[in-house]
Amino acid sequence: MAVSMKGRSFVSIADFTTEEIWTVWELAASLKMKQKIGEPHRILEGKHLAMIFQKPSLRTQVSFETGMAQLGGHAVFLGPDHIQLGKRESVPDVARVLGRMVDGIMARVFAHNDVEMLADYAGVPVINGLSDEEHPCQALADLFTIYEKKRRVEGINLTYIGDGNNVAASLLLTAAKVGMNCTLICPDGYEVKPHYIQTARADAALSGSKLQFSNDPADVAGSDVIYTDVWASMGQEAEAAERARIFKSFQVNDKLMKKAGANPPLIMHCLPAHRGHEITDEAMDGPTSVVFEEAENRLHVQKALMALLIQ
Ligand code: CP
Ligand code: NVA
Repeated sequence: MAVSMKGRSFVSIADFTTEEIWTVWELAASLKMKQKIGEPHRILEGKHLAMIFQKPSLRTQVSFETGMAQLGGHAVFLGPDHIQLGKRESVPDVARVLGRMVDGIMARVFAHNDVEMLADYAGVPVINGLSDEEHPCQALADLFTIYEKKRRVEGINLTYIGDGNNVAASLLLTAAKVGMNCTLICPDGYEVKPHYIQTARADAALSGSKLQFSNDPADVAGSDVIYTDVWASMGQEAEAAERARIFKSFQVNDKLMKKAGANPPLIMHCLPAHRGHEITDEAMDGPTSVVFEEAENRLHVQKALMALLIQ
């Protein structure tokens, strides 16, 4: 392994260097191959992961839980009603207790500060499985998927269209770290937070990544990859109707894909998708959609991540 990441937490893409991201991807590719050919890879035999969920999940829960089992370890599910993070007990106290019982923690939270606090107090690696601000595991799996498909990241034009949310912020940060070009197209008032843009610009200056920010869906021209996510994230359900109206022209559909250029772009979505809202059936089920391979890669990338941080 090129670099040791043992004992570290992964709360934000900003926690990893470009070299560390590649270390995760290299191990992910190797573990994916081992799993496909049935070669055992029980690197985390006897290790335990606590999984805190304040929000619903399909991919994150199943990929961490099965991933841990495939690595020879075990995962404990702690749903919203189990520990009631910050209500029944303070976040630092939850972290201190779990840190004495398990070898790693995965947390899906509302407030990003909660996952930061868990990392500060647990004394074991903490992995952000989505917060209101970031979804770093998703972005690592997504750019790994693009790398698998295109065999390179530099010079690839990734366009994210829709809400400037947690997924958009993590995609932007990851692209900027590894030299992928990234265009974010979001409605006025729904852009990614300025501090993420500042961080990404600083990384892009080093990696050569070209970053662009727009409010106009026509700016998908030249995209190699078009990515979208739900218009109302978990916790924003009350805004769903208003957002559906505002985001209408930001839908990923055949018409938008044709604007990308001569070569049909790869279509990506972190899922769950709201078909007929941010993405049409045609786009999601079309020949260049990689949404389910992308979902599968959550498993392989997170296994690599857990192996590197917890082993
Ligand atoms: N993409 C993703 O994180 O899916 P879940 O919310 O189902 O975990
Ligand atoms: N932006 C979405 C991503 C779900 C995986 C949300 O936070 O609900």
